Amino acid sequence: MKKLLLHLDTDPVPSAFDQAVAYDSGVDNIVTYGGVTRDNVTPHVHGMIFTRGGKNLKNSAIFIGGSNVPASELVGKAVKKAFFGPVSVSVMLDPNGSNTTAAAIARKVMTDYDIKGKKVVIVGAGPVGQRSALYFLKEGAAEVVITSRSLSRAKIITDQMKAAYGVDVIPGESRTDEAVAELLVGAHVAIATGPAGVCILPKLAWSGNETLEVIADVNAVPPMGVEGLEVMDNGTEKEGIRFYGAIAIGNFKMKVHRAAIAALYESNNQFLDETTIYDIACKIES
Ligand SMILES: NC(=O)c1ccc[n+]([C@@H]2O[C@H](COP(=O)([O-])OP(=O)(O)OC[C@H]3O[C@@H](n4cnc5c(N)ncnc54)[C@H](OP(=O)(O)O)[C@@H]3O)[C@@H](O)[C@H]2O)c1
Repeated sequence: MKKLLLHLDTDPVPSAFDQAVAYDSGVDNIVTYGGVTRDNVTPHVHGMIFTRGGKNLKNSAIFIGGSNVPASELVGKAVKKAFFGPVSVSVMLDPNGSNTTAAAIARKVMTDYDIKGKKVVIVGAGPVGQRSALYFLKEGAAEVVITSRSLSRAKIITDQMKAAYGVDVIPGESRTDEAVAELLVGAHVAIATGPAGVCILPKLAWSGNETLEVIADVNAVPPMGVEGLEVMDNGTEKEGIRFYGAIAIGNFKMKVHRAAIAALYESNNQFLDETTIYDIACKIES
C-alpha cells in the first residue's frame, strides 16, 4: 500500500522544502494544502482517517508546517481533536523546521560533550531557541539563559515555558554587544538562534571568555550569527572553544527530519512534536 502524507501548511503556499524532504524519506505521494487553520482542517483529517481502515491506517500520515509556529500548533491540536479514539494517523509537527533544528543543535553541541552541570546561554528567543533550551535542561544543564533584546519579552517567554513545560529558564537581555558579553561570563555553551543574516554574538563577547567551551550558530546567511564562526565549522576549535556552524547543524537536522517522517509509518498513533522529535534525534549519530 502506498505511503500517503497529508501536508498541512499554515502559510498560503505550502513549503516545497517540507515536500522534498518527505519524498526523500520514502513517502510515495503527498496531498498538500496551504492556508490551513484550526477552523478548516477537520475535513482534511477525515479524508485521511476514513479512507484506510485497521492496520492499513499506518500507511497514511500528516505533516504540519508553516512559518507561524503558534498557528501551526493550534492546527496540531485541532488535528488531534478530529481523531476518533483509535481511528487516527500519525502526525509530525515541525513548523518552520523549529523542532528538527533545535534537536539538531542540542545533539551537535552534545557530541562528545557532557552538558550536565553546565551553564548555557541562548541568544535569540524564537521557537528554535526555546526548544533548544528545553533539550539542554532535559539533559542536565545546570542553568539555561534565553535572551531577547527586551528583558520583558524574554520574561514573557520564560513564563510561557514554565507554564507549558514546567521548566525554569532564566530570561536575559541582549540589547547591546556589551550586554551579550556580560551574559556569557561564567557560561560554558553559547548558542546563536537569531534571525538569518544578523550577527548577534560579536567576537568581543566570546574571545577571551575564560569558561566558554562550545559555541553554535544556526544562521546560514552572511554575516554569521557569531562573528569568527564559519558556516562549515563542525567541532572546529578556535581559542580553545569548539564551534558548530549552520551547515553542520543543518545536515544533521535533515537526518532528523527524514528519520521522523519515516517513523510516522511505523504505527497510526504517534504525535511527533517538540518533545518526541528530540527522542528520534538521540538515536541518530551526530
Ligand atoms: N539550518 C536550518 O535548517 C534552520 C531551520 C530553521 C531555522 N533556522 C534558523 O534558525 C534561526 C532561528 O529561527 P527562529 O525561527 O527561532 O528565529 P526568529 O523567531 O526569526 O528570531 C529569533 C529571535 O531573534 C531576535 N531578533 C529579530 N531580529 C533581530 C535583530 N535584527 N537583531 C537581533 N535580534 C533579532 C528576535 O527576538 P527579540 O526581538 O525579542 O530580540 C527573535 O525572537 C534563524 O536564523 C533561522 O534561519 C535554521
